[in-house]
Parts: sequence; C-alpha cells; structure tokens
Amino acid sequence: MSWTTKKIVDQLTNVVEPSRIKIDTNDLQFYGNDWSNIGEPNPSAIVFPTSVKEVQAIVNLANKLNFPLVPSGGRTGLSGGALAKDKELVVSFDRMNKILDFNKSDALVTCQPGVVTGVLKDFAKLKGLFYPVDFASVGSSQVGGNAATNAGGVNVLRYGMTRDWIGGIKVVTGTGELLDLNRGLKKNATGFDFRHLFIGSEGTLGLIVELTVELTRPPKHLNVMLMGLKNIEHTTQALALFKEKLDLTAFEFFSDTAMRKVLEGKSLRNPFDHIYPFYVLVEFESYTEVQVNVASELFEMFIDSGYAAEGVLSQNLRQAGELWEFREGITESIASYKPFKSDISCRVSQTPAFLSSLEKTLSGFDPKIETVLFGHLGDGNIHINLLKPIHMDSEEFREVCKIISKSIFNLVKSFGGSISAEHGIGLTKKPYLNYSRDEAELNYMRGVKRLFDPKNIMNPGKLIDL
Ligand code: MLT
Ligand code: ZN
Repeated sequence: MSWTTKKIVDQLTNVVEPSRIKIDTNDLQFYGNDWSNIGEPNPSAIVFPTSVKEVQAIVNLANKLNFPLVPSGGRTGLSGGALAKDKELVVSFDRMNKILDFNKSDALVTCQPGVVTGVLKDFAKLKGLFYPVDFASVGSSQVGGNAATNAGGVNVLRYGMTRDWIGGIKVVTGTGELLDLNRGLKKNATGFDFRHLFIGSEGTLGLIVELTVELTRPPKHLNVMLMGLKNIEHTTQALALFKEKLDLTAFEFFSDTAMRKVLEGKSLRNPFDHIYPFYVLVEFESYTEVQVNVASELFEMFIDSGYAAEGVLSQNLRQAGELWEFREGITESIASYKPFKSDISCRVSQTPAFLSSLEKTLSGFDPKIETVLFGHLGDGNIHINLLKPIHMDSEEFREVCKIISKSIFNLVKSFGGSISAEHGIGLTKKPYLNYSRDEAELNYMRGVKRLFDPKNIMNPGKLIDL
C-alpha cells in the first residue's frame, strides 16, 4: 500500500467501518472499471458508505486531504465515466440500495442511489405501476448512475429519458454540502432547477445520495412488428405512418450487417426469406383489438406498396419477446469484435439524410472494418459500431477509429446533432465535446463545475476539465 493510500484508508476508518473499505486487487479491478473497458483500473481504495452522513464525511475528507473521488453504481457505462485509473477513491453505492418511501397518490417512489434499475421496475409493478425507462443493462445498472448519466434506452420515443422521471434528488456537492432539489414537486417555479444540472453531469459536480422517482400506469398490451426494408428513406416513412395511427412505445432499426451478426451470434433463425439493407422493429400499445387491426392494415399497406419487403407481426407476448431478440441481441453478438462505439443523434426527420451521408463518409475508409448500425430511430439515436478485423492490431484499429470518429463527428456537427445521445461523454468522447457544444457553452459548463466542485475532486478528468 502506498503512503497516500495508507493515509486515505487510515482517515477513512474514522468515518466508515473498516470492513466497508476494500483494497484487495480483485476489488480494485472490479469496482474501478466499467463496461467501456478502455483502460486499466487503478484506484487507491473502494469505500461503501451506508448513509448520506457517511457520504458527506467522505467528501469532506477528500476536500481536506485533496484526493479525487469516482462514483460507482452498476458500472454499465460505455464511455469510461466510472473508470478509476489514477489512484482515486471509488465510492460504491452498493450498500445504499434501499427503497425508502412510496406514495401511491403521487406515484412517487423515494430510493437510495444503489437500487438496481430492474428492482425499481419490479417494485413499480408490484404497486400496479410502471417505471418506463428501459435498456439492456437494467439488471445491473443502478438508479443513481442512471440519473448521473441521464440514461435513455428503447422507450424514449414514448416516455423520454431518465431526466423526465426524476421528481427530486438529494446530492452531496463537491464542497460537501447536502442539497435537497425539487422534493418531488410537479410544479415549481422558483428559479434555477439545479436538479437538472446534476442529472447527466456524470458525477463531476457531486454525488447523488437519494432520488424521488415518478412512476406511471403500465402499458395495456404490447405488440411488436419486424419489417425488412430495401431503402433507408422507407424507415422514416414507416415511422411517420405508424406514429400517426398508433401509440408507439419503441421504433428501433438495424442494418443488414447487424442482422447477420445477431443471426450468427445468437443462433437465431432468419424470420424472412432474404437479408434486407434495413430492419425496423415497431412496438405499440393496444388497448383493444382496434389498434391491432389498424396495425395489421398499415402493415399490409406497407408491404403492398413495396416499402417493406417482408414483415412479421407478433400474435402474443412470447412472439413479441422473440422479435425483440433480433434487436437486443446485437450488442452481445458483436462484443467479441471489440467494437469501437459511437452513439450519435440528430433530428428524427434528418436520420435518412444523415445515414446516406454516413455511408458515403465510411466508404472512404478501410473496407475491412465492418460497420454495424442499429439504434433508436424513433428518437434520432444511431449507434455506429466499427468492428476490428481479426488480423488488425488493436492499437492500429484504435488509431484508425479515432480518425473515422472525427469524420463522423464532423458530419454530426453539420447536422446540428449530438456526439452522444445516451452513452455519455466520460473519457472516450471528452476530446470531442466541442463538436456538440460551442466554446461559450463549454465556458459556462466549466463555471458550473467550479461552483459545485472548486477543488476538482468529483470524477476529475471526465466530461470536462476546469
Ligand atoms: C443499445 O441500444 O443496445 C445500447 O445503447 C447498447 C449499445 O449501444 O451497445
Ligand atoms: Zn442504445
């Protein structure tokens, strides 16, 4: 143990029980890393507070001894936001994982930040309600981390992002003060809403120690359609048509390469006779048979007009789940290629033009680097995954991907889009933040950081530097 680590651990034992401080190599590796896997974790120690008071004491100590903190939730982030590589103290919320309060008439649940998203979803279900933010990692991600990164997912088109469901948060700022923000109020016109500064701040302003989350009524019945399309333009035509007549809960797309990889990776049977350039998965809510009949008519019209080459409409929940596998299985199916991920967005109406320009941009690079496209077309979010060719050296691949990224980000900028729709900036996209935020905005962001975290102890090096 280095001298500084020893000093931190010694002092920490005055504020938390020694059994809740970990310095074993395995723990440092596990809690110091996230799903981005972009660097070697190297934290000094991991601490597991159990109360707001303990979190405050840890932050006060970090201010006194001047050591950095990295907040740690489920660490499912893909941008390195929870990677601790520079001797930081990792603050894990695993032991602050209780649901504290529920009020049916407000449809509000108050919980600690370490509650796993899936647990919150199950709790809502138990109460006859629904927590609608949904994404592949709900089984591991934690509610505090979701708020810190403003997590999105597959239902944003209908329900919005995490930000839209946070009625209140308590945070411990970088100076150790406890702020109780908005307190679950629906209406509150008392000036700056600091709650929204902390949501999406990736732990750079303070630590979220309590959340009041809004719930809603569950969807009545969900139906899924999968269609193979010959032309990218037809995807937005499908979106416009289906959105007008149905209550869509998701509108996802993926490319031919994505379909090939998922068929192979998940050993699935192709539901169609051919492979098509694009696929859309439409999920909608039905209240009675009426919506299902409308959907069937639209679906037939879409096929008859030649927009969709082939399609399938789920007849029950089991089939709906099976159709989702083609979309949700993509990430896992390409994981072995160590994909270089971009996660961009533009206005929904501009996605066909963006995707055509993207195709032109990518055609200028090494054709051996396969591109897998998929994402949440209903909200303008496109995931661009570049796959490492087997024989290409990892370092060379990373360097080529950085060059390709710049071209992609230039394109995003020309569309007025965002270089990160939902995965966040963290470490991986920090050098490129100026493609989406102008200098004046970046200066205000630095000012906000300085205000809440003057000593730069809160997740330093992530998102933005002072
Ligand atoms: C998804 O939409 O599946 C997630 O954002 C994960 C990913 O992009 O790989
Ligand atoms: Zn996504």
